[in-house]
Amino acid sequence: MASVLILNGPNLNLLGTREPGVYGLQTLDDINEGLENGPGKGHELRFVQSNHEGVLIDAIHEAREWADGMVFNPGAFTHYSYALRDAIAAVGLPVVECHLSHTHAREEFRHKSVLAAVCVGQITGFGRQSYELALLGLLGKLNKKSSA
Ligand code: DQA
Repeated sequence: MASVLILNGPNLNLLGTREPGVYGLQTLDDINEGLENGPGKGHELRFVQSNHEGVLIDAIHEAREWADGMVFNPGAFTHYSYALRDAIAAVGLPVVECHLSHTHAREEFRHKSVLAAVCVGQITGFGRQSYELALLGLLGKLNKKSSA
């Protein structure tokens, strides 16, 4: 069994009503439930969402104590937060970067991720399925069996 932090950054608490043409109609709770009943079944998942960079950094630091890895949608912090990049590098846990939208096909400022280089992989563009694919990829890297 793996223990995984599902971490979400700014504005992702508004999923369901936020730009549904881009991000879909599902809420973050819907996505999290889908993970628990899908690829996360038989694993320990903990969920954190914050609009604050420091809270995300603290969650990454705390994950050292209990998690085997993380799925992280950093929202707009993806594109400029060196502090989050340093936090991921500092803890050394495997992180899969995950985006609902296909960031590379959107505005130019979204094409660059300052975090990707310290992550073990990146999934973009599959809507809520991005999270499932990211979790599957992480579990594959961790090579831990489900207890379900
Ligand atoms: C996002 C893409 C980011 O560019 C944006 O700032 C978000 C959501 C995504 O999931 O597609 O907040 O991370």
